[in-house]
Amino acid sequence: MCILEKIHVGLGDKSYDVFVGTSLIDRAGDFLAPHLRRDRVVIITDENVGALYLAPLSQAFASSGIKVDAITLPPGEQTKSFEQLEQLCNALIELKVERNDLIVALGGGVIGDITGFAASILRRGCRFVQIPTTLLAQVDSSVGGKTAINAKGGKNLIGAFHQPVLVLADIDILTSLPPRELRAGYAEVVKYGLLGDASFFEWLEENGPALLSGDPAQMSLAVQRSVEAKARIVEADEKEAGQRALLNLGHTFGHAFEAETGYSQKLLHGEAVALGMVMAFDYSVVHGFCSPDHAARVRTHLEATGLPVSPRQINDFDASASKLMTHIWQDKKVSSGKLTFILAREIGQAFIANDVDPVHLEEFLATSLQD
Ligand code: NAD
Ligand code: GLY
Repeated sequence: MCILEKIHVGLGDKSYDVFVGTSLIDRAGDFLAPHLRRDRVVIITDENVGALYLAPLSQAFASSGIKVDAITLPPGEQTKSFEQLEQLCNALIELKVERNDLIVALGGGVIGDITGFAASILRRGCRFVQIPTTLLAQVDSSVGGKTAINAKGGKNLIGAFHQPVLVLADIDILTSLPPRELRAGYAEVVKYGLLGDASFFEWLEENGPALLSGDPAQMSLAVQRSVEAKARIVEADEKEAGQRALLNLGHTFGHAFEAETGYSQKLLHGEAVALGMVMAFDYSVVHGFCSPDHAARVRTHLEATGLPVSPRQINDFDASASKLMTHIWQDKKVSSGKLTFILAREIGQAFIANDVDPVHLEEFLATSLQD
């Protein structure tokens, strides 16, 4: 079965296409050709992804007459650091990467985020391509141009908006993804249903299990539908002046838990988002915005998928509500000293709640930690 869909992200002179399909790695040279100013690329990957896909991707480029250099970084969230960014930039300079060369991010959200950020600052801005290799990166981080590293004070606090020139989402690549990583990425798929598309959430309730067991047709449909949803939001609000913040559903809670677990294997980003989305719906119920039935459906679906829905499911987790609040105050949506959360009126109807009461929120967190 050969699948190929093109989703256009219309951003004026920063517009680009996202291709979702099978066997895209083998044809990567053909996809990149229209964007090349000279016949060379530099691939940035991590050790896990590099071991599996660097050779086939390099081979595909070579067979199109494209010269390849590669830089391999350690895997994991810790790679989104100043130290790794400095080494990466120095390595790119050593390779004499020019402004118009193409830098290729081959990996999950970690590689996409650090590579995109390096591309945004190297020689005041180089062009880059995303070849996302996790479900999370295919449906979310590779599209929309958010790039970042983490700071001591919080996640993704140092970064830039820098759009790729092309995204190749090859769903064949997802077959090697560990099941836990696939599930974590699935949380970001569910997010699109919860924030703005109730019929997609219903589709996922029915088809999610097949998708997670590797059905390529269902996987491709879910990736396409997610990318389309993200593309429309990014087109309307590239720099997050308003509605793009909806894509943060579950993230303010989630980031606090990720920070408290040290951005470690204890809690993957997508798992934190799943837990955060359950809490966002529960908090919406507490405020009387949302009916308990909708919150229960969200919890049931994510739980059935094997994603965490309560802080008590995180191993050895003993942070207090006040500790979580210190992370929440570092959220990028904090504005004029007020907390902003993405809450929901129902499944498919998320909204931006400004001026969330911190005292009430801390009480809610304290209760959630005991549930
Ligand atoms: P990741 O990049 O750490 O990848 C997860 C693990 O899977 C890594 O160990 C990696 O080596 C391995 N891996 C990747 N692809 C594989 C494959 N095909 N086969 C086998 N192993 C593979 O994690 P992620 O979940 O992709 O990304 C998380 C990051 O994305 C976080 O830092 C998060 O902040 C960021 N993010 C960014 C945005 C954005 O808009 N820029 C959106 C969402 C998330
Ligand atoms: N992942 C959130 C965003 O791209 O805005």
